[in-house]
Amino acid sequence: MTLYSFILTVHIVTATSLIGAVLFADHLAFAWLRGKRATLPKKTMGYIHRGMYIGLGIMIVTGVYMFLPIREYLLYETAFQIKMGFLGALLLNSVLIGKLLHISTTHTFTSLSRKTQCIFLLSGGASGVSWFGVIVAANLLGV
Ligand code: HEM
Repeated sequence: MTLYSFILTVHIVTATSLIGAVLFADHLAFAWLRGKRATLPKKTMGYIHRGMYIGLGIMIVTGVYMFLPIREYLLYETAFQIKMGFLGALLLNSVLIGKLLHISTTHTFTSLSRKTQCIFLLSGGASGVSWFGVIVAANLLGV
């Protein structure tokens, strides 16, 4: 196994684990949204959130390693630009989620103002669209 194929394997395995963690977090969040759970478990949500940052860090380091040798091609590749756009959205959204986390672990969804409820729904929607977009774009890189 070459170093490149090892790094690509780490990149793909980390992406798959992150998707698994997102689905698990969304499953909990849906239960909270529908009132099946009064609040979200603080410890578990904290672990998932920190895990997301670590995972995204691994994606960026391994991605940059694979990007550098073919940067002249990738910088002008639309799929790569779209992938980076969705990655930017994921990073911004994770900062927002970090701020929202405390609310979801201490309040019921129905007790929140309409505005705060909308922010939660928008953040959840942005997360789903961005994960889907980054994975689809990654598979269209043409390398
Ligand atoms: C959340 C972040 C990311 C996700 C989910 C992701 C996902 C993926 C996936 C699933 C593949 C494999 C595609 C295939 O098998 O055809 C891939 C390949 C690739 N990714 Fe990422 N990626 C992310 C971040 C990055 C970043 C930040 C960079 C570089 C700056 C990058 C550069 C690359 C490159 C160059 C390849 C192609 C490698 C090859 O096939 O030889 N990725 N990515």
